[in-house]
Amino acid sequence: MLDTSKQSLVNVGMERALALDIVQVVETAAIAAGRLLGHGKKDEADQAAVEAMRLAFNNLEIDGRIVIGEGERDEAPMLYIGEQVGKGGMGIDIAVDPLEGTNLVAHGANNAISVMAMSETGGLLHCPDTYMEKLIVGPSAAGKVDITAPVKANLAIIAMSLNREIADLTVVILDRPRHAELIQQVRDAGARIRLIGDGDVTGGLAAAIAGSGVHAVMGTGGAPEGVLTAAAMRCLGGEIQARIRYRDEVEAERGRKMGIDETKVYFTRDLAPGNEILFAATGITDGEILKGVRFFGNGQRTYSIVMGAKSKFVRFIDTVHMEDRPTKAPIRLERY
Ligand code: FBP
Repeated sequence: MLDTSKQSLVNVGMERALALDIVQVVETAAIAAGRLLGHGKKDEADQAAVEAMRLAFNNLEIDGRIVIGEGERDEAPMLYIGEQVGKGGMGIDIAVDPLEGTNLVAHGANNAISVMAMSETGGLLHCPDTYMEKLIVGPSAAGKVDITAPVKANLAIIAMSLNREIADLTVVILDRPRHAELIQQVRDAGARIRLIGDGDVTGGLAAAIAGSGVHAVMGTGGAPEGVLTAAAMRCLGGEIQARIRYRDEVEAERGRKMGIDETKVYFTRDLAPGNEILFAATGITDGEILKGVRFFGNGQRTYSIVMGAKSKFVRFIDTVHMEDRPTKAPIRLERY
């Protein structure tokens, strides 16, 4: 017999029931990391976000299992893969990245976010902390591109689907030596490139949200970030295609044990197959999609996105967190 809290989750559906709760989790982590903006302490910022997120989970009426987290149990003290979180309730799988872009926060650079996704048990791929080659596009090119095809062919498809020329496209690529050849191919095809220091989840969100000025993400980045991006694509109608790229034999061994196939192209629904999927992110530093955390006298202001794949909503949330009633200054109206 379920208790009433669990029963209400079943009736309402996971996405609707937990949407605001998961926003609070990423808001809390973002505020904790945001305090260390520009302090040059990436590990401390990460730790602050992890601890805050871990604490915030204690308020949630879920039986949560971390499937994408801070690392294996022996590597991470909190939010490790397999850790149970929440105070009991519906069984839910969770992917977290409390601070996506540790260097970005350390340097006060753009596009750091706190991010997580939830699904019913088995709804998010359990994949090792390794690399993934990714191609991420928005809704108009979804189902048309092919990660195994030449870069130029994919750019032509993306351009056509957006009713423009390849020269009008902007592709986000992580600024890494391993991408020298990819960068050359994109340049030869004539597209523009935005090289980013870190943060390809934000890049993926931007590719799937019109008006961001980003049309695709290409290249190799973190596999956990790939699963989080897939959860976002399920909500936004965009697409990620990915291939596992192990860095060494230890990762390969771990991946094979988890049933990961390094020869396979993973599509959005392979990475995030869930029926119900919730995705939430809060800006830590300013970015294309979300503003960063603002701190004031006795509170903070955060900017978040929360989306549900099944219930088909995308909600942008602007929250003022007050430690006390506003005394020195009133709440300020945000003009968009
Ligand atoms: P952090 O783990 O420091 O937050 O970095 C995030 C990130 O830039 C991801 O966005 C990206 O997928 C991955 O790291 C790339 O890995 P690497 O820095 O090893 O190239």
